Amino acid sequence: CRREWIAVDGPAGAGKSSLARALAKALGYRYIDTGATYRAAALAVLQAGVHPGDPASRSRIVDIVRRVRIRLGTDPRVDLPSRVFLDGRDVSTSIRSLEVGQAASTIATIPEVRRVLAELQRRMAEEGPCVMDGRDIGTVVLKEACVKLYVTASLEERARRRAKELQEIEGQVPVSLEEIEEQLAMRDQQDATRQDAPLRAAEDAVTLDTTGQTPGEVLERALAICRECL
Ligand code: C5P
Repeated sequence: CRREWIAVDGPAGAGKSSLARALAKALGYRYIDTGATYRAAALAVLQAGVHPGDPASRSRIVDIVRRVRIRLGTDPRVDLPSRVFLDGRDVSTSIRSLEVGQAASTIATIPEVRRVLAELQRRMAEEGPCVMDGRDIGTVVLKEACVKLYVTASLEERARRRAKELQEIEGQVPVSLEEIEEQLAMRDQQDATRQDAPLRAAEDAVTLDTTGQTPGEVLERALAICRECL
């Protein structure tokens, strides 16, 4: 297996990105947020005026995703949250809305979209040691990673964390906790039941339930697992 790769997967709001970033910082690795690549691609689709869920627009969606240039800031020390560039424009904030998250999950069901973005992610991983987070990193994108973590938390806790994140986004219309919970459950369902690379723990992944745990406690457990495997 490849020691320079750490795969972190799990449902939305489980604390994957905080953990992946903290791990990257502690180990001196780069942090690669693959959700941001799906979100940036989805934003490009929305900005082109194309409906992400319209089956008749599939080939246009694939075409848009093939054409756009997505670049990520990967240094965990300077990027909080990750800087994301779409055709050279900084879209770090606009990709974090509920609408873009939902659109990302919808276009992520299209196999050609997944192929294009997985290739981009793989190229980024080949540039050097990294912690990569997403839904299919341990099962598809970095199958050869030595350390695979599957991060989960209760739906209530994940909704609370998402609500906090959303509050910090300027221009985001306030949404109720119930609405966030509903959106998360819908997204989990869509991510876990899609045909191509559904959300699931890899057979060789270690599951970390972060419900009721502080980020520091989760990091400690993850570092202990890394020490065992690396
Ligand atoms: O992690 P984040 O919430 O930013 O991801 C947005 C959406 O992108 C997810 O709901 C999922 O559908 C999709 N995604 C994916 N595979 C990944 C990362 C994200 O399908 N590796």
